[in-house]
Amino acid sequence: MTDNNETSGATPEDEGRVPKRVIGTPSPVGTQELLPGDEPEQGGTGYVLDEKKARRAERVAAAFFTLSFVAGIAFIVFYAVWPGHVGNINRAARSNYTLGTAMTLILLGLAVGLTIWVRHLVTTKEIVQERHSISSTPEDRAVFNQYLQEGSRESGLGQRRLLRRTLLLAAAPLGLLPLVLLRDLGPLPEKKLRHTAWKNGTRLVVDGTGQPLKASDFNSPGSIITVVPEGAEDNLDEIATGAVLLLNLPVDQLKVKKGRENWHVGGIIAYSKICTHVGCPAALFEQTTHHILCPCHQSTFDALDSAKVLFGPAARPLPQLPIGVDSQGYLIATSDFHEPVGPSFWERGRPKV
Ligand code: FES
Repeated sequence: MTDNNETSGATPEDEGRVPKRVIGTPSPVGTQELLPGDEPEQGGTGYVLDEKKARRAERVAAAFFTLSFVAGIAFIVFYAVWPGHVGNINRAARSNYTLGTAMTLILLGLAVGLTIWVRHLVTTKEIVQERHSISSTPEDRAVFNQYLQEGSRESGLGQRRLLRRTLLLAAAPLGLLPLVLLRDLGPLPEKKLRHTAWKNGTRLVVDGTGQPLKASDFNSPGSIITVVPEGAEDNLDEIATGAVLLLNLPVDQLKVKKGRENWHVGGIIAYSKICTHVGCPAALFEQTTHHILCPCHQSTFDALDSAKVLFGPAARPLPQLPIGVDSQGYLIATSDFHEPVGPSFWERGRPKV
């Protein structure tokens, strides 16, 4: 004890202190319910629980296990009577939420019950396993030393300084090569990811034909077409970020966000075609529900309500392109998108004024 105090710097006052307990660790053995007569020296197990507290803990743990059981039954019942694959997308979403909640309760009940069991009903004791020393014997070290010196002598590494130094010199650039290869990642994108080829006055032209569109040409309700910025029809990089879905929606059903009142032309509305999940083309449109679907992972967007996400892994709506009409009646963009297009891992940009 004296030695320990000397090495750790502990004072005699420190000895009486109870060490602070770290959350998540079991109570120190000394504070467990060790009953007289059950000490190991007297042939006992060394640890006896307070039966009153143990029973209370048992009841609480059992309650959580019961909760887990009930949730498990509920999961099966929900799945059987309310299958998510039958019916529309809203039903599937509700089914997923319900099943997810039941599954959460199952796992939570088990986890809490087991934790209570382990922390309050299982006694703690220190077990020491004796191991032999893992350091090498002096004989082994001597043999190793001898081999090392022989190897050094025979290879000439020790004597031939010129060779040794030039070898080290030759190896030095190897450490720098990964840095040089970083350049192959290309130039930094800087602000490029926040912009597309759209700007005020750019005409919307049909993808594939390059034909500009007049609002009067696109007047059938429920129509959908892919358009790209005029002048960028053959630029695959520009199309990859600037492809737009043009939709003709019933204007009286549109839920126009504040500040976007002039972003559509009589119900003709434009959204980025690049899915905000991982960038597939979101190109399927359900005319009856006005839902835009991405075929890759089934993200579903509400075209009537600013393309907000209804279902699936996408985390944000499809960005909307503000559009208008030029003096000749052709549909044009009135600005670039107001936020980055594509997957959500690109941080959303500050709205441009
Ligand atoms: S890329 Fe569209 S849902 Fe995954």
